[in-house]
Formats: sequence, structure tokens, C-alpha cells
Amino acid sequence: MHHHRLVIINGPNLNLLGKREPEVYGKLGFEDYLNTLTAKFPTVSFDYFQSNIEGELIDAIQKFGFTHDGIVLNAAAYTHTSVGIGDAVKAVPARVVEVHISNTFAREAFRHVSYISAHAVGVILGFGLDGYELAVEGLLKKL
Ligand code: DQA
Repeated sequence: MHHHRLVIINGPNLNLLGKREPEVYGKLGFEDYLNTLTAKFPTVSFDYFQSNIEGELIDAIQKFGFTHDGIVLNAAAYTHTSVGIGDAVKAVPARVVEVHISNTFAREAFRHVSYISAHAVGVILGFGLDGYELAVEGLLKKL
């Protein structure tokens, strides 16, 4: 069976998952969730990268975007501000799925804009951490 290489890239403040606004983002830390996620897809090899720094996220998209088949990207607040991250997604051959834990359209108007969506193969939002698993399932069908 073909062994797909995927990377999950999380943006600013997502290192605080489980501690940050648990009523919005849940009580589970991402590293714990990642263990259960990767166990569900034994044929996929996963990498994980998180940064609070916009340029580091762009570097990661550029690096993994040429070595991996797909990227699950939650750029968090930079989703709504970063032309540079949107351009990086557009620039790489890897397929990118945009994920948000919360339903950003049910929140403030500034979260209704995404510089990533137009360059993503799909967008999943509002399903909590399960969105990452749904993104992997969707991505595997697009590879
Ligand atoms: C988020 C939504 C963003 O608007 C917010 O800035 C985040 C997390 C989400 O996963 O719901 O930090 O990307």
C-alpha cells in the first residue's frame, strides 16, 4: 500500500489547546489528541509542527509542501490576516486542507475572512478537534 506523508501545521496559540478558552476549543491538549489521531491512520506517516511566528509557518509550508503529499493547516489567527501564508499555500505542490476547531462563521466578523481557503482543496470548521481527523480522511481521498 502506498505510504502517504502528511503534516499537521498549527498556528499561534494552538500550543495552549486544553488551557485556552476550553468552552470554545475544548479541554484536550493537541499532543494528546495527535496520539489518538495518528493511531487511527496506520498507513499514514505524520509530522507535526506548531509555531506562534508567521514566518516560521511560511517556512514550514515551503519545506513540507515539497516533501509531503498533504498538509492539514490550522493557521489560527493568521488565517484572517496573512497574505504571506495564503501565498505559501498556493506556491507548494502539496494538497492543503484548512481546519478550524471552532465555527469561525458563528464568531466575530474578522474571522469570516480567510487568506487560505481559495488555495485549499477543502475547509473543515466547527467540529472541534475531530476536524483534523475529518481533514485527513478528506485529504487521503484527494491524493
Ligand atoms: C481557530 C479560529 C481562529 O479565528 C482563531 O484565531 C484561532 C483558532 C480555530 O481553530 O477555531 O486561534 O483557527
